[in-house]
Amino acid sequence: MVMARKKKDAVKELEEFEELEVGESAPKKKVATLEDLPGVGPATAEKLRDAGYDSLEAIAVASPLELKEIAGISEGAALKIIQAAREAANIGTFMRADEYMERRRSIGKVSTGSKALDKLLGGGIETQAITEVFGEFGSGKTQLAHTLAVTAQLPPEEGGLGGSVIWIDTENTFRPERIRQIAEERGLDPDEVLKNIYVARAFNSNHQMLLVEKAEEIIKEHASTDRPVKLLIVDSLMAHFRSEYVGRGTLAERQQKLAKHLSDLHRLADLYDIAVFVTNQVQSKPDAFFGDPTRPVGGNILAHSATLRVYLRKGKAGKRVARLIDSPHLPEGEAVFRITSKGVED
Ligand SMILES: Nc1ncnc2c1ncn2[C@@H]1O[C@H](COP(=O)(O)OP(=O)(O)OP(=O)(O)O)[C@@H](O)[C@H]1O
Ligand SMILES: [Mg+2]
Repeated sequence: MVMARKKKDAVKELEEFEELEVGESAPKKKVATLEDLPGVGPATAEKLRDAGYDSLEAIAVASPLELKEIAGISEGAALKIIQAAREAANIGTFMRADEYMERRRSIGKVSTGSKALDKLLGGGIETQAITEVFGEFGSGKTQLAHTLAVTAQLPPEEGGLGGSVIWIDTENTFRPERIRQIAEERGLDPDEVLKNIYVARAFNSNHQMLLVEKAEEIIKEHASTDRPVKLLIVDSLMAHFRSEYVGRGTLAERQQKLAKHLSDLHRLADLYDIAVFVTNQVQSKPDAFFGDPTRPVGGNILAHSATLRVYLRKGKAGKRVARLIDSPHLPEGEAVFRITSKGVED
């Protein structure tokens, strides 16, 4: 009954909205809440909020197709809503480069546990960005994630951001015992450290995408506490996408979903000043005669979406080697580190 009524309300709002003549705009009013947006009444606003679009900023950076699907409105209506939200939220405009530099100064960095690796990354993994590490099995991706889940909780003077951590686990490789060990070895209270990590198993790619929406709820709950979420881990990003979409025929659909997933992650990173850390597998590249015959899974969409890509490989005597790939602002180079009881270290 309630659902039926909601749907009716939404349809009515839509009809009222679409009754407007072309060229005629809704009466101008100051946009402060979702309900002030053109064509958005209580029912539509509720749908948007339920889907995580609960601020003008969130709507301002949404895609028309997303809103169309969530709110059941036309693409044109979605575009008008987004435009109004952009005006009201005052984002998506140009800023002077000195101001831009100032904003970049607010970027937080989480230490990886290894000075050499931190140096390679320009100080650690950054907030407001997606860092992707890829490499073959056993190269240390999951171990690095465990270490970051601990170091992100350290105070800034010790290389952390004093934050909470969200972990989306797709391969069932999150180990609280390992977190305890790394925390203890670093002189932290392991029980406290575990309390600040929110873990979920993702059972398939749809579930994985849903968990990002759920993550936003946790992020909001913690936003004004002394333990805001500062790190979001997806280990591994591609495993489900890769196993569910086999064959050329499904590639377009997979890439479309992946693009949405990545844009959701970017939105969280930007909006809430969070470091997003994703791991990725490699596939063999039989056509490469020189260099390493592997490349990350995910194609161009992922290549262009990750802010920083790091390639991990096993070195001699238990060492690991990290190499920076295609960084927009850091010189390419390599760093050597080890995996020990402390997690990642030099
Ligand atoms: N407690 C520990 N102490 C020292 N080294 C460890 C410890 N736990 C794991 N390792 C090392 O980490 C390696 C596993 O790395 P990890 O699980 O991070 O690989 P991965 O890159 O995530 O691989 P996959 O692609 O299979 O997920 C082990 O082979 C081992 O060498
Ligand atoms: Mg792993």
